Amino acid sequence: MHDFPPSSPAILLIGASRGIGLAMAAEFLQRGWSVVGTVRGQARTGLHELADVQPDRLAVESVDITQIDQLHALRERLAGRRFEILFVNAGTVNPDPDQTLAELPTEEFVRVMLSNALGPLRALEILDDLVAPAGLLGLMSSGQGSVSNNQQGGRALYRASKAALNMLMRCHAARQAGSPRSLLLLAPGWIRTELGGPDAPFTLEQTVPDIVDRILEQRGKPGLRYLDRLGATVPW
Ligand SMILES: NC(=O)c1ccc[n+]([C@@H]2O[C@H](COP(=O)([O-])OP(=O)(O)OC[C@H]3O[C@@H](n4cnc5c(N)ncnc54)[C@H](OP(=O)(O)O)[C@@H]3O)[C@@H](O)[C@H]2O)c1
Repeated sequence: MHDFPPSSPAILLIGASRGIGLAMAAEFLQRGWSVVGTVRGQARTGLHELADVQPDRLAVESVDITQIDQLHALRERLAGRRFEILFVNAGTVNPDPDQTLAELPTEEFVRVMLSNALGPLRALEILDDLVAPAGLLGLMSSGQGSVSNNQQGGRALYRASKAALNMLMRCHAARQAGSPRSLLLLAPGWIRTELGGPDAPFTLEQTVPDIVDRILEQRGKPGLRYLDRLGATVPW
């Protein structure tokens, strides 16, 4: 992988092939950042197209966060690099979110929990030392991860996976108490993507600049926050 311009700060963005992650990569580039963005597998994605336009400040890497050996291999390939921000955006949902837990195939439960809770935290721990001592570690959570806001139910597995993500991040924060790192759980809002679906009220263009603003303004603020994209604290 080539060197980035030394004057531009760098972000490692996990899950940038499409949707919010791809739009975040484009937004960080537009703001002068260098980006290592990850996709899964070898297929060409929107991120590769972006890299064709901006080859000096965007490098495409590959990792599936549910595969621990792939996380270690990525860590090795990136050895010697230094990032201001590590942000894990990758996430998934089960195809039929209205299935009851009795109907839900056990493999789907495992896949969603691995992708949305264990995988992101493993990525954070394994890639941690690539991040500057006072850098930011961020995870894409969801308003649906809030236990106390859940009055409606529905999408039980997705909600549970994001609540588990939040809990694991709180454990990480408690273990790292006193660290100068900024830790962020971000609830981006309901956005029109493959995951969000066509009924979502917001487009990527309407939301991603706010998402990137929130991430950038948390830099230099040690401790863990769970925020929506307009900066309000989400109740745990
Ligand atoms: N859209 C919304 O309304 C909304 C609301 C709240 C929170 N979120 C969260 O925001 C994040 C992005 O969502 P989105 O709407 O942009 O979804 P999306 O369009 O479905 O994109 C999901 C991204 O995550 C990647 N990914 C999934 N599983 C992965 C894995 N095991 N390893 C590595 N990468 C993986 C996908 O890569 P592939 O292309 O390889 O599949 C893709 O880049 C997710 O964490 C989601 O839960 C979204």
